[in-house]
Amino acid sequence: MLLPHLFSQESTIVPITVKNPIVEMDGDEMTRIIWKMIKDVLILPHLTIDLKYYDLGVKHRDETEDRVTSDAANAVKQYGVGVKCATITPNAARVKEYNLKQQWKSPNGTIRSVLDGTVFRKPIIVKNIPPAVRSWKKPISIGRHAYGDIYRSVEYKVPGPGTAELVFTPANGGERASFTVHEFKGPGVIMGIHNTEKSVRSFARACINYAVGEKIDLWFGAKDTISKIYHAFFKEVFDQEVGARKAELDRLGIRYRYMLIDDAVAQIMKAEGGMLWACMNYDGDVMSDMVASGFGSLGLMTSVLVSPEGKYVYEAAHGTVMRHYYEHLKGNPTSTNSVASIFAWTGALARRGELDGTPGVTAFARRLEAIVVRTIEDGVMTKDLAAIAEPKVDKHALTREFIDEIAARLTRDRDEKKI
Ligand SMILES: NC(=O)c1ccc[n+]([C@@H]2O[C@H](COP(=O)([O-])OP(=O)(O)OC[C@H]3O[C@@H](n4cnc5c(N)ncnc54)[C@H](O)[C@@H]3O)[C@@H](O)[C@H]2O)c1
Repeated sequence: MLLPHLFSQESTIVPITVKNPIVEMDGDEMTRIIWKMIKDVLILPHLTIDLKYYDLGVKHRDETEDRVTSDAANAVKQYGVGVKCATITPNAARVKEYNLKQQWKSPNGTIRSVLDGTVFRKPIIVKNIPPAVRSWKKPISIGRHAYGDIYRSVEYKVPGPGTAELVFTPANGGERASFTVHEFKGPGVIMGIHNTEKSVRSFARACINYAVGEKIDLWFGAKDTISKIYHAFFKEVFDQEVGARKAELDRLGIRYRYMLIDDAVAQIMKAEGGMLWACMNYDGDVMSDMVASGFGSLGLMTSVLVSPEGKYVYEAAHGTVMRHYYEHLKGNPTSTNSVASIFAWTGALARRGELDGTPGVTAFARRLEAIVVRTIEDGVMTKDLAAIAEPKVDKHALTREFIDEIAARLTRDRDEKKI
């Protein structure tokens, strides 16, 4: 769709052609609103692009018995690059609110299962948004292992006295192994969790690849002093994989550090950043929000799922910004930060350009990113950033105003450079 007001009448510049498709996954609530704005004013007027559209909005997931989510993930397998809007993971309240047939699984969980990927989160650094942690000068990227542990657990509410056991029965008819977990004297809870060597190994490899790609140090933390088999297994696999690439890491000056997870947390608060922090699934879930808020706002945190086959899904790390959506529905003005969603698009475009060998597409993405950062540094920003900007800004931009400002600058820049 072309928005005529964005172009000077005599502009003869033709949109840049994106060679291969990108899988677009639409989402929910306020992020769905900003998603459409971004697409209409920042993407479509500048690019000729084949978007394979999947509506992952919760109503459509419900209508399709959630088939649309696995269809979208399979499309990413086919085309290699996807861009995803934030989506609701229904809980009981959401089932009622949206009148859903059931509590559908987390779309991100489904996509991760199909692609078996690792999620990397990286904050966007803007000069006038100082991190809450004074020592942080460079981005801290977080690699979250996206398979298993408590996210694939079996849980049981123990009703009363009895024995909880851990039993493994070998498929080849070998000897069963059994261990007592606890002799319950009264009610309680138990949980069984697992991971697989294949998944842990591909996680370690993905983290090494990411550190090599970004030329940054790699940290890994676990609790192997307490969990001498489960957590220690992760450490052993990392040691082996890092060992196998030692010469390359040494040549690039990339250091690998293993720490106890509590030590890693303490060290990260004093570090200046510029590393990939590889985290087990739950640690990554929690620590990425801590790092995001430490760098200023969830609205400045980007996220990419990378599969071992080199398939990519880009998204903002934040959710659907429900509170703003309710205000929007009431007709009240909102000031929702669209930066991480814009960077989801630019991440996907830059990657598409690299995979297709079309540097013009990658350059467009990087230009748009630079314009977004420059706009904030010029003092135009949404409320979440205005509250923490230094120097202070008196007036914040509304959701649409911010995106329109970027659009105007992007068009001006394009016309000036005759790109
Ligand atoms: N990747 C995803 O698709 C994803 C991730 C997390 C949550 N969710 C879903 O999002 C919904 C809302 O969850 P939540 O409230 O816990 O998380 P959220 O990220 O939407 O909001 C958390 C807090 O951060 C603020 N915030 C987040 N992003 C912002 C932005 N761009 N601009 C301004 N403020 C922003 C919100 O106002 C809120 O106070 C839930 O239904 C959840 O399932 C989806």
